[in-house]
Amino acid sequence: MKILVLGPGAREHAIVLALLAEEAGHDIVCAPGNAGIAASGVETPELAVTDPGAVAEFVRDRGFDLVIVGPEAPLVAGVADPLRRAGVPVFGPDQDAAQLEGSKAFAKRVMDAAEVPTGRAVRVESVDAAGPVLDEFGAPYVVKADGLAAGKGVLVTDDRTAALDHVATWTPHGDVLIEEYLDGQEVSLFFFADGHDVLPLSPAQDYKRIFDGDEGPNTGGMGAYSPLPWVPSGFVEEITRTVALPTVRRLEEEGTPFVGLLYCGLIVTEKGVRVIEFNARFGDPETQVVLARLESPLSRYLLASARGELAALPAPEFSDEPAVIVVVASEGYPGEVSTGRQITGLDEAARVPGVHLVHAATARDDAGRWSATGGRVLGVVARGESFGEARSRAYEAVSRIGLEGGQYRTDIAERVA
Ligand code: AMP
Ligand code: GLY
Repeated sequence: MKILVLGPGAREHAIVLALLAEEAGHDIVCAPGNAGIAASGVETPELAVTDPGAVAEFVRDRGFDLVIVGPEAPLVAGVADPLRRAGVPVFGPDQDAAQLEGSKAFAKRVMDAAEVPTGRAVRVESVDAAGPVLDEFGAPYVVKADGLAAGKGVLVTDDRTAALDHVATWTPHGDVLIEEYLDGQEVSLFFFADGHDVLPLSPAQDYKRIFDGDEGPNTGGMGAYSPLPWVPSGFVEEITRTVALPTVRRLEEEGTPFVGLLYCGLIVTEKGVRVIEFNARFGDPETQVVLARLESPLSRYLLASARGELAALPAPEFSDEPAVIVVVASEGYPGEVSTGRQITGLDEAARVPGVHLVHAATARDDAGRWSATGGRVLGVVARGESFGEARSRAYEAVSRIGLEGGQYRTDIAERVA
């Protein structure tokens, strides 16, 4: 198949690697891609991926059998819409359905209508309105900006003043939600969705905070592991029945069918599982470990989703072998980062058995030297017969990578190893 993957990051690198690993042998283009994706032997043309017109023209000129939209920004910008109208199979929801991620208020409304279990939330339009609501919910306070905020929109804090400041920061940009605090382990569970049916992938756990022990500010994700040995049996079936299917059916009823990847961000509380957020695309870095364990051909599921044909497929299969990813980030991340620093040891790291690298923000010069170009720089993915083995392989590989000021968490998958 001729496949176009849209996006610049490590998630797209992981998708490309899964497609390259298929027996069928595909002709893959990743736009704009990154230097690591190019080093995997894939064409990475420049393209303004959040510009629906530019993407539609590129797809028309080049002709693709399947287009996969990686990040949320192009989805929320409506990149899938003209492609789908033109009859191109596209994995990724239309602009309307992408509101499930693009607007937390939209997601809450759909969850309420579909009777999906989630935390109670109140929308506030001003700091004055927020005070009494914070007091009613009590600490810890959860304050969420409504729109896409690149991971900066959510604040969980015990500090009432900080919570009010967060409300003040975000109310000028739109609505703000104050939400009930939910206590428990977080799970990321992905579903292929074809507008009517869903099929689950294998669950993963993400490490959102920058520092060991879940300290410090939230990030895009500093590591992950899959599967989750501690989830109760029947967990995936339960979430399919109580969360994914009702949500997809509700969106279908509303005339905004969801085609693409339904990312369910869940918390397993004492009172049961609750949804904390939906995303409309593969999670990063969870995808890197989930796809590392996928044994069924990815393109088959993406194409069947795009064509509304998931009902004809069995659930995808996953290896029992665990996978762990440790993300290496630049100094300063998730704040202001210094970029351009040289990265060494990538070949040595990739030689650790069971290890492969996914690139998020790297550049390679003509002499083959690598440097960092952003916050999350790359991820080290390791598989092993046990979590202990996968973990020690990942950290052995990380120890071979040199990046001045580079940071990574040392406790990824510790709780299961
Ligand atoms: P979100 O962008 O909604 O995924 O929120 C980012 C992170 O904030 C989540 O991964 C959780 O760690 C935390 N969080 C979000 N909502 C809640 C909540 N209601 N209770 C506790 N923690 C939350
Ligand atoms: N790792 C969290 C996300 O992709 O949203």
